Amino acid sequence: MKRNLIIKNAYIITPLGSAAKKGAEMGKLHEIPDGRIIIKEGNIIFCGASKDAEEVDETGYEILDARGKVVLPGFIDSHTHLVFGGYRPDEFEWRLKGDSYMSIMERGGGIQSTVNATKEASEEELTEKAGWFIDRMVEMGVTTVEAKSGYGLDTPNEMKMLDVIHNLSSDNDLKLRIVPTFLGAHAVPKEYKGRTEEYIEILINEMLPAAKGKAVFCDIFTEKNVFEIDESRRFMQAAKDAGFKLKFHADEIVTLGGAELAAELGAVSADHLLHVSDKGIKDMAEKGVVATLLPLTAFSLREPYAPARKFIDSGAAVALATDLNPGSCFSGSIPLAIALACIYMNMTIEETITALTLNGAAALDIAHETGSLEEGKRGDVIILEFDNYRMLPYYVGMNCVSTVISGGRIVKRN
Ligand code: NIG
Ligand code: FE
Repeated sequence: MKRNLIIKNAYIITPLGSAAKKGAEMGKLHEIPDGRIIIKEGNIIFCGASKDAEEVDETGYEILDARGKVVLPGFIDSHTHLVFGGYRPDEFEWRLKGDSYMSIMERGGGIQSTVNATKEASEEELTEKAGWFIDRMVEMGVTTVEAKSGYGLDTPNEMKMLDVIHNLSSDNDLKLRIVPTFLGAHAVPKEYKGRTEEYIEILINEMLPAAKGKAVFCDIFTEKNVFEIDESRRFMQAAKDAGFKLKFHADEIVTLGGAELAAELGAVSADHLLHVSDKGIKDMAEKGVVATLLPLTAFSLREPYAPARKFIDSGAAVALATDLNPGSCFSGSIPLAIALACIYMNMTIEETITALTLNGAAALDIAHETGSLEEGKRGDVIILEFDNYRMLPYYVGMNCVSTVISGGRIVKRN
């Protein structure tokens, strides 16, 4: 497996740095019109103007000529529910006819319906299915993906999901990197209806210790009639004490204060935020919590988009991700997410690129390792079909990525 690569004649566009870009900094991209990237053993050892490139003995290197093409860091999809059993097309149709996401959940459908299907599926079935989605992600230029559990809602099945994620990531042939998240607090399972406190006890005493070492992040669906603020605080404080980094599904359906809680507990990111309060935005900006916005979910639920401009103009860091899942958002389309961010969320094209690269990495706390094209970072690179990065949103919903390099390995080549 070749991990030594030289990309010549590249029109390089990249954010720079090893931390999230905040506010106006998000719009600043570094441009190298005639550039070269040298990747050795999977990592970038040179990225700069061709004329400044050191001479290397090219034996043992694969050479790619990117003449006439834009070269960007690989995209980072920092919020997905990649592993799940079954599908829910019936619910999609009910929503088209006017049912709301929460009303379906409250009558036992929604997340619980995928929990039933995931419990029935074997590890092998779940692994194969997730692999199919990974292949589609790679096609669109994703080189790192976050993957959540959350459709087990009991110890054996939550661990089964985390094991599936682990099996996928330890496959040497895997074409991207996976960051695992424990989402046992995705819903209160039907067996514990009306007994949320008892389920939280199990989450804290059984599941967190079992998930330790299998997941880096712990996430929760903080929402009215799911996990309220006090319940979320208790569980997420315990997760933090157990050494997990924190993420929140926050203020997705109603304004509840999830953003404020994420800031209070020092979360790495708070996600969704369609109904975030002004105070939530301010708290997140102050505490450096990345706002991970998921335009495909708002689109699929016919909800208003998250206030990306308010976040950026308040000095916060915004990341964009797909939220791929079988319910609220059955789409992993990076091209459509880019178009929606620019057309409906009023993000500039440059901000959108930062949100899907360096800030996505920051939302996974790996901005020191990937998310930009710089010496010392992983060789996660994509080459577009075009010579202009502005094609990305303009070619609405269509894939502009022609070549994908993940950890120095070519995983898609056109
Ligand atoms: O990010 N809102 C909670 N969780 C997911 C949806 C999960 C599902 O519907 O299966 C979300 O929207
Ligand atoms: Fe989600």
